[in-house]
Amino acid sequence: MVAQLIDGKAIAARLRQDLAVEVAAMTAQGHRPGLAVVLVGEDPASQVYVRNKARQTVEVGMESFEYRLPASTGQDELLALVDRLNADPAVDGILVQLPLPPQIDATTVLRAILPEKDVDGFHPTNVGLVATGAGGIVPCTPLGSMMLIETVRRDLAGLNAVVIGRSNIVGKPMVQLLLAAGCTVTVAHSKTVDLPGLCRRADILVAAVGRPEMVRGDWVKPGAIVIDVGINRVTGADGKSRLVGDVAFAEAQAVAGAITPVPGGVGPMTIACLLHNTVKAAAVRRS
Ligand code: GUN
Repeated sequence: MVAQLIDGKAIAARLRQDLAVEVAAMTAQGHRPGLAVVLVGEDPASQVYVRNKARQTVEVGMESFEYRLPASTGQDELLALVDRLNADPAVDGILVQLPLPPQIDATTVLRAILPEKDVDGFHPTNVGLVATGAGGIVPCTPLGSMMLIETVRRDLAGLNAVVIGRSNIVGKPMVQLLLAAGCTVTVAHSKTVDLPGLCRRADILVAAVGRPEMVRGDWVKPGAIVIDVGINRVTGADGKSRLVGDVAFAEAQAVAGAITPVPGGVGPMTIACLLHNTVKAAAVRRS
């Protein structure tokens, strides 16, 4: 059996097309949704992400506000900018790119963003709302991962899901979404005993650990849905650099029912979901 390939790139493109229609309608009614992205410092990976976010924001017809601050920026200065963006009616979503330089406490900054403009879904208010099923803004990567799973199977009730990784950004919110969909969820992490055995019981396996090709083909239950959140740059035996996920793709593809590739799986969904969250935030603020 060769697994069905879950084409995140194509699914993200469709989502952006739908968003563009919504954005056009909102703009015609007098309010073009706007996303502010704040980058502090010159981290090369962050610069690429921020550039892609700004480009795609404009492509769906939204207003993009970009703030690039020097690495020496103080916490009070950044908090003053967040306050200004909170108060700015043209800004529907605020994203402060992580990581932040060491003199700035990320938790303090993320908590300063108004929950209704927190399109990352990192504010404790949104974390609580999502955990209690009371609405809230869902973090982009788990939201995109759920959308991908739902393209393969709509009803997830009763399925065993294993999430490898317990980060606040991916693992923990992923658990909440799978629970809300009726799955029996196990969270695995670095202290988990017999991880391969645990994974072999998973109908849905989500890998979000940042360890290149850690999940081997014989960890995968035949027919399982495998979602690979990892994006790891490795150098092959030929000396060439390439991107791989947390799952040994070729091995897992031979066993799974459906699998996301890296690149072209979860990655493109993350920015598309950021745009989705911004449009949603704009609609809620206007309602
Ligand atoms: N840095 C890497 N991923 C993310 C993300 O999803 N949001 C923010 N704000 N920073 C990041």
